Amino acid sequence: MNRRFALLAGLFLIGLPVCASVLAIGSRSTRAASQEARKLPDVIVLAKDARLGQVSFNHANHATKNYSISGTGPIACVECHHTAQPASEVAKHPPLKTAWPADRTTTLTADLLSSGGDSVGLIACRSCHARPGTTPVNWPEIPTLKHEDSAAILTLTNQLAFHRNCANCHEEVAKHRQDVKAPGPQKCTQCHKK
Ligand code: HEC
Ligand code: HEC
Ligand code: HEC
Ligand code: HEC
Repeated sequence: MNRRFALLAGLFLIGLPVCASVLAIGSRSTRAASQEARKLPDVIVLAKDARLGQVSFNHANHATKNYSISGTGPIACVECHHTAQPASEVAKHPPLKTAWPADRTTTLTADLLSSGGDSVGLIACRSCHARPGTTPVNWPEIPTLKHEDSAAILTLTNQLAFHRNCANCHEEVAKHRQDVKAPGPQKCTQCHKK
């Protein structure tokens, strides 16, 4: 046998298991990292770069206490994480129509999250609803929506998406219940605090 070939073949054979173990270590550590991010968050600081001040959002209260509009239960995960359900489910809630990933078959719940599998499919709101003038990291462009009462096209920047999600629910809550404090759209500084 040609000596040089034998040497190459030998290197290749040694190389294979080395490569395989490097790959295995790599995937183990990314898996550990993604599982760590999969605990239900407690308090999340949003709007860190808002001039009015940041917003301290109690995720645990919203996701586990009786924070629904009627006050009879917690808010379903997908009321906020609206893309984290199959497209067929999204379609039941127009004007929403987008699922991410597009071919997902699971709906985000506390159980799905703790299962820690790859089917959780959860990404940050801002990775689609980017700040004005920036390109989202997970979406071709900042999402748009036709205004419900006019021909206007709304650009769902981080500001508009969060305000519609958060403050619009609070406005509905105020119509149904007087016993709770949920900052409506005009109560800027009950959410934004310096
Ligand atoms: C229900 C809570 C809430 C209320 C009320 C609220 N905001 Fe916000 N606001 C947020 C959240 C949450 C974000 C987006 C956070 C993010 O992208 O991290 C935001 C984002 C913003 C941004 C964009 C910040 C940036 O530079 O990315 C501006 C500006 C802003 N709000 C102004 C206002 C003003 C003015 C009012 C009152 C008319 C108001 N907000 C009322 C929660 C609220
Ligand atoms: C994978 C991209 C993506 C992610 C992640 C995402 N959105 Fe959206 N969002 C969209 C698109 C696209 C639309 C336009 C409607 C549609 O296609 O479903 C939209 C629409 C909306 C609307 C308008 C719905 C209405 O009726 O007013 C709100 C509010 C909203 N998103 C808030 C959020 C919040 C809050 C988060 C994070 C908890 C989030 N979105 C995460 C892509 C995304
Ligand atoms: C009232 C709205 C709302 C509800 C309800 C809600 N979330 Fe969230 N969740 C958020 C927002 C806003 C964030 C911050 C993400 C961001 O910056 O885009 C977040 C973040 C998270 C994160 C952290 C993601 C990361 O990248 O670190 C996890 C995990 C999560 N939510 C899971 C859930 C699960 C599971 C449920 C249901 C049991 C749920 N959420 C219910 C709004 C909500
Ligand atoms: C589907 C309804 C709903 C959505 C969506 C929602 N909230 Fe709330 N929120 C409530 C209710 C109900 C309360 C009052 C609960 C109480 O006082 O018992 C509340 C209270 C609050 C309070 C007062 C302090 C506290 O935690 O009780 C803040 C601040 C707040 N929400 C911020 C936000 C932000 C920021 C978002 C969006 C990321 C958001 N909320 C989305 C229903 C909602």
